[in-house]
This record gives sequence, structure tokens and C-alpha cells, in this order.
Amino acid sequence: MKAIAVCPAKVILFGEHFVVGGNSALAMTIDLPTVVTAERSQTDHVRIKSESLRLEATFSADGNLTESSDLKAESTLRPIFEVVAFTLKKIGHSTEGFTISVKSSVPIGMGLGSSAATAVGTVSALTALLNSPLSKEEVFEAAYSLEKMVHGHPSGVDQATITFGGMISYRNGTVESTLEISKPPLLIIGNTGQRRSTGEFVGKVTKLRETRADEYRKIASEAQAISDKALDALRNGRNESLGPLMNENQRLLELVGVSSPELERLIAAARSAGALGAKLTGGGGGGCMIAVAETATYEKVSQAIQAAGANLIPSNFLRFGVETYLRES
Ligand code: PMV
Repeated sequence: MKAIAVCPAKVILFGEHFVVGGNSALAMTIDLPTVVTAERSQTDHVRIKSESLRLEATFSADGNLTESSDLKAESTLRPIFEVVAFTLKKIGHSTEGFTISVKSSVPIGMGLGSSAATAVGTVSALTALLNSPLSKEEVFEAAYSLEKMVHGHPSGVDQATITFGGMISYRNGTVESTLEISKPPLLIIGNTGQRRSTGEFVGKVTKLRETRADEYRKIASEAQAISDKALDALRNGRNESLGPLMNENQRLLELVGVSSPELERLIAAARSAGALGAKLTGGGGGGCMIAVAETATYEKVSQAIQAAGANLIPSNFLRFGVETYLRES
């Protein structure tokens, strides 16, 4: 028997970083799949395989590395072992022989939710395999707790978006609303190719929030007003209003120091080519940017972002969060 969990990736449209301090964020799932397969094995070890990265590592029940394909394998795959150990503890199951395989089309560390998809997928596949399937709420809680161990103050927006799916407004650990979208915004995603640590940039904003509280409060309240207007525009199908709101949101992200010259080059190229608006998405400092365009300008904006040095990430809005299946081997 195999359990297979398929997770989407995510894009934050509005409110990243400010969501950590209690604002709301708007995020949606996109059709870049991460597939996690869980199987029992005859050994008493946990074998983790990343098919996409061609890495493999085996851990004993108490977390010692017993085998690895190369030097990079342990640091890359240990977080997945930690997800397995945490999940087994949560459902009161002993660590025994499992093989977990991850195959992902999401670029790592680029703000599209690769680590959240791997965690949500691993929790879902493993609990389904052990006949202890969790509710979506429980999957989210588990993946969010794990993320808290990785970096100090995550908001949980990535884990919530990928678990529940669709277009959501998220605040203070809960999905405030799921939006019924008849016409998703026409988004172009450009990747700077620069990998960065979300934790480092979250730390930067946290420091600002703590040391220059008044200044932060003013910026955060502007960011909340932008998210509120964007929510209203999305609910009413006024996608053209999203552009100027994205530009405003980008200005605030620059003010709190999470943008980068590379992101700004792509954003400027998108705007000059006729995008309605553009901003960074996710943790910033590199990673990805998004632009919103009209059908008539979509091609021109895409080409401009690419010509400015980005890898385009072709993807579409997806209405579903994680889905889990059981299959006879
Ligand atoms: O993991 P990323 O890079 O997609 O960023 C997540 C969004 C942040 O607001 C920057 C962090 C968080 O925990 O909400």
C-alpha cells in the first residue's frame, strides 16, 4: 500500500511580512505540484528520497543518519525526517520502516511554498498510510507547528494556503475567508533565481516592528488598507484594480527593507511593458515577483520580465489544496 499526497504551490498576492505581525494576507494556490509518496519498508529506518533533487538519505528511528547519497543529502532531507518524526509522535505511532519520496516542480527558496508543500504533503501521506487521516485543520496545525521550529515567527500563511487551497484571506492563524473567484487575475510570475532565507527577512521586519514601533504601525496599517481593498476588488471581479494596489504594496515592502535590486528590475520591466501592477511575492530579498496584466498585454509583459533576466514560472490558479490517495503498490 502507498499513500500519495499531491500539494499545490502558492503565491501571496498581498500582505506578506505584515501578516507575521497580525495583518491579513491574500494568497492563492497554483498548479505546480509537489507529490509525496509514503510507503512502509521492511527495515526499521526512515528513508527519504527527493526524486527532483536526486538525493537520498536514511535515518534511524532516533534521527541518526545511517546512509546518504552525497554530502548535501543530509541537510536537505533532514527537515523531511523531522516532519516524519513529528507526525508519528502526534498520532502516537512508533518510528519504524518507511520510505518517503518527494517529487516537486516548485523551485526551492523562491517564495512559492516549496517547504510548506513538502511538509503538508508528508503529514498527509504518512497519516493516510497509517490509517489515521487528519482533518485539513489538523494537517495545517501540524505543518504550522513544524514551520515554527524552522524559523522564529512564521504566520502560517503558506501552510494554510497549501492545505486548504483556492484564494484565501488569512490572519492570525486562521483562514478569514475563502473567496469564490469566477475570473482569477492574470498573473505572471518571474523568478530572480536568487535563493534566500525567509527567516532572515522575517527577522529584519520583526526587528523594525520591535525597535521602531510607531513607524512600523503606520506602514502596517497602510498595508492592511491595501489588503482590504484588494479583497473587495477580487470579490467583485475588479481585477484591474489589483495593479495599483500591488504597486502600493511593493512600495511598503521596499520601505521595510525586504525588496532587492533584482526584484525591482523585474518589477520595473513589467510596469514599463504595460502591466497593471507588480510586486515581490513571499519572503523577498530575491525569489519571485508577480505582475498582473490584461489579456492584451500579457505576452508583452511576460517577454519584458524574461528579457530583464527572470525565469518565467508558467502556472495557473488552482482551486484545490492538498489531496491524498491510497493506492495498492
Ligand atoms: O516562505 P515565503 O518566502 O513564501 O514567505 C512567506 C510569507 C512571509 O510573510 C514572508 C512569512 C510568513 O511566515 O508569513
